[in-house]
Amino acid sequence: MSNFPFLKSYEELQSELQRLGFEIPLSDDFSVLSEPLEICYRDKKWMLPNRFVVQPMEGFDSGQNGEPTELGFRRYERFAGGGAGLIWFEATAVLPEARSNSQQFWINEKSVDRFAALEERTRSTAKKRFGYDIVSVLQLTHSGRYSKPTRGVRAPVIAQHSGVLDAAHQIPADYPLITDDELNRLQDAYVHAAKWAAKCGFDGVDIKSCHGYLLNELLGAFTRDGKYGGSFENRTRFLRETLIRVRDEVPSVFVTSRLSVYDAVKYPWGFGVDQNDYKKWDSTEPKQLVKILREIGVPLLDITIGNPYFNPHFNRPYAKPIRGAVAYDEHPLIGVARFVNIVKEIQQSQPDLPMFGAGTAWLRQLVPKVAAGLVKNGWATLFGQGRNSFAYPESPYDILQHGEMNSKQVCMACSGCTDLMRAESPTGCILRDRDYYRLP
Ligand SMILES: Cc1cc2nc3c(=O)[nH]c(=O)nc-3n(C[C@H](O)[C@H](O)[C@H](O)COP(=O)(O)O)c2cc1C
Repeated sequence: MSNFPFLKSYEELQSELQRLGFEIPLSDDFSVLSEPLEICYRDKKWMLPNRFVVQPMEGFDSGQNGEPTELGFRRYERFAGGGAGLIWFEATAVLPEARSNSQQFWINEKSVDRFAALEERTRSTAKKRFGYDIVSVLQLTHSGRYSKPTRGVRAPVIAQHSGVLDAAHQIPADYPLITDDELNRLQDAYVHAAKWAAKCGFDGVDIKSCHGYLLNELLGAFTRDGKYGGSFENRTRFLRETLIRVRDEVPSVFVTSRLSVYDAVKYPWGFGVDQNDYKKWDSTEPKQLVKILREIGVPLLDITIGNPYFNPHFNRPYAKPIRGAVAYDEHPLIGVARFVNIVKEIQQSQPDLPMFGAGTAWLRQLVPKVAAGLVKNGWATLFGQGRNSFAYPESPYDILQHGEMNSKQVCMACSGCTDLMRAESPTGCILRDRDYYRLP
């Protein structure tokens, strides 16, 4: 267990923030969270019915062709029935070898009809209950150094050797890098996947570039030679070119990205880090990249930090680490505050491009005033939840209706969902949804 007890009241939250020297704005004006938001992309507009986002959460329960199964349909019905207006569908591999798990979603000619049915079921669930249209985004991924397409067999695809991550993940010094030619061809796979996503009715596609996976690793590939490494222009090339290709070749969906703006991995192996001290964020390149993505035309951005396999206290502050790990000796509130303050700075660098972050689950029932505070004060335009979407999918509805979350339903940041993931079992909440999810 972490040595840091949960906070029980907003007063306690405020005094702990003061003691630790951090700021997080609170507000009890929950009306800001129910305000619709129009997003514009090329000559089209979409209306988000409110400010809540279901962040992508992998279920690892696909069928043999990567298609959603009944458990996946149930997950998205719960998400859509819980009141969030933007549903960001989980990491979906663009190629079989790009999967981090043998049951990760994978979009292809055999699975595409089930994805279409999933999108439709999700949309109609929200429509029936709330009368509005959700906005749906499909996250497209290549798992890079965390690829594990066959159960129990790691098959990393790396963009550069890392003096930090290779040792952590037992990658030998002579392990080959993905070549520039292979990366060129991989762009085609993203375009194909985006075409399938468009066929399924998704409103947008996310060219996922976060959490240590391949595209995120490329952003920090300072030591790589060739057109995809070294300079800022080269390191951002894959993401930029893929976004532009999808924009131009698949005009019926909008393109966006879930973007890691701070890897917290030592230079020269991480993006957005101070070259002398990786524990400090350097916002220069991330802000430059966000400006470029805006010029490409993304209508919104999902901002994130950290690597769940390496520094989960940055990415998803927790009360209890995963099984077998030692809790990092940092107050989880520092993790939450770091995350929302970084999102604030990125959001305020492009104030009229809607953005949002994550990482607040550890706050449990104190989430509502934080969500309202962040949006009201312009620290973010929307509010995203990951683990609470598993534990408490109705939380957006409860916040919008009652301004509170039920303390008996909230995520306890116990890492049980990540334990399931590491055990290669379908993921969900082992505390609040225990009839469906149990640790092996
Ligand atoms: C079990 C599990 C699955 C996840 N799956 C994804 C995913 O598919 N794509 C992604 O970008 N992030 C994924 N995440 C990260 C979450 O979206 C989110 O960023 C993280 O849990 C921190 O936010 P929270 O405090 O609201 O949970 C996952 C996290 C967990 C615990």
